[in-house]
Amino acid sequence: MSADADARPDAVQQEPSPWVARFAPMVPEGGTVLDVACGSGRHARMFRDRGHPVVVLDRDVVQVSDMAVDPDVEIVARDLESGRPWPLEGRTFAGVVVVNYLHRPLFPALVRSVAPGGVLIYETFAVGNERFGKPSNPDFLLHRKELLIAVRPELQVMAFEDLEEQVPRPAVRQRVVAVRAG
Ligand SMILES: C[S@@+](CC[C@H](N)C(=O)[O-])C[C@H]1O[C@@H](n2cnc3c(N)ncnc32)[C@H](O)[C@@H]1O
Repeated sequence: MSADADARPDAVQQEPSPWVARFAPMVPEGGTVLDVACGSGRHARMFRDRGHPVVVLDRDVVQVSDMAVDPDVEIVARDLESGRPWPLEGRTFAGVVVVNYLHRPLFPALVRSVAPGGVLIYETFAVGNERFGKPSNPDFLLHRKELLIAVRPELQVMAFEDLEEQVPRPAVRQRVVAVRAG
């Protein structure tokens, strides 16, 4: 079951998340960025524009198939909830980006995928969002401070938000930016 199968009331978003765009400069210059559950690849595309090689990972890579012509783009098609091992074991990245996707068993793999000096940028819906619509399934809603707990103590938290917001639509969202000491 998709962690955000009920989170797609909107048209496919093409603009990068403001949170990811704001903290993108923290990713070491030229380092490879992993976009997990990349969807349209809006964040991978932003990092390519910034000169980073990217790895895009999703069970459905149709929306990023146009990126295959780029030698600095690696496309990995994988169902991350099949119970199979993490597909990128042993590899680390200057940036790991996860937006609007939650599958809790992946937390340890996401954290260990951050290279020394690298950055994890994670943002998705949180408990309380069910008051506003989808996603409303608790499996897809972060608990209070859950991202903080997931990244500590391995990573150092640089920014964190857990709030109700009205723009671009009413929602409860949680966000973290965390780095691994270099
Ligand atoms: C709401 S979209 C978010 C896309 C992108 N991160 C963004 O912010 O634009 C959720 C994405 O998770 C992917 N996804 C859902 N379940 C998955 C699974 N079991 N394995 C891999 N990807 C999955 C979907 O294919 C979809 O692209």
